[in-house]
Amino acid sequence: MKRIIAGNWKLHKNPEETRGFFTELLKKIEFRSDRELVFFPPATNLESTAQSLKAGSILWGSQNCCHEVKGAFTGEISAQTISFLGGRVVLIGHSERRTLFHETDELIAKKVRLVQSLDLTPYLCIGETLEERESGKTLDILKKQIIEGLKESDSSKSLVLAYEPVWAIGTGRVASLEQIQEVHLFIRDFLIQRGFSKETPLLYGGSVKPENASEIGLIPNVNGFLIGGASLEVESILKIYQA
Ligand code: PGA
Repeated sequence: MKRIIAGNWKLHKNPEETRGFFTELLKKIEFRSDRELVFFPPATNLESTAQSLKAGSILWGSQNCCHEVKGAFTGEISAQTISFLGGRVVLIGHSERRTLFHETDELIAKKVRLVQSLDLTPYLCIGETLEERESGKTLDILKKQIIEGLKESDSSKSLVLAYEPVWAIGTGRVASLEQIQEVHLFIRDFLIQRGFSKETPLLYGGSVKPENASEIGLIPNVNGFLIGGASLEVESILKIYQA
């Protein structure tokens, strides 16, 4: 299985900065056949991303999409248009979407189904809050997010799962190696039980940096990373890619 290094830019960079980033990245990167590099730029920069990455060795897509292909959905992003532009992946259910934009598991499940029906790969994000962890509910919360988020999904289509403890996102506070190991093993077993491929990539996300990527990457069932802050600089994403 290829290791996935995925950058979530959130609401950072304009189209010009996007072009500049990818020009520099393509100049410096030494591609490895055992790694997959993926970017989720803001939706307004997908066209400049498509132009910059037309050679196809780096995958890209959007940070969100509408649960329907088209219609009266003001302000939404069409997964079909992402595909038309050359995007292959869509981030779904990121914790910022769940908390700041009140996305429910039900809506997330519809997005997963739609994205898979268009032959794009959903990157479904799950994770517990600090309160949930401290009250011992972590595995129950993850189980619920998996059951509900994937309830309309097609287990024969591609899927990536990203475990991101909410309290580790953008805080500089990384989950311990033991916590990550426990959760990833749990997710792996649970997905297999539910009929998903044992090859489903499981990513860890939450304050991944060049300094901690190597040791987190060695944990069993960690097949890559979803990276926010450290994906904004060419040097730091390259260090993680090479780690
Ligand atoms: P972070 O963000 O790496 O800045 O913690 C991760 C994410 O939100 O996907």
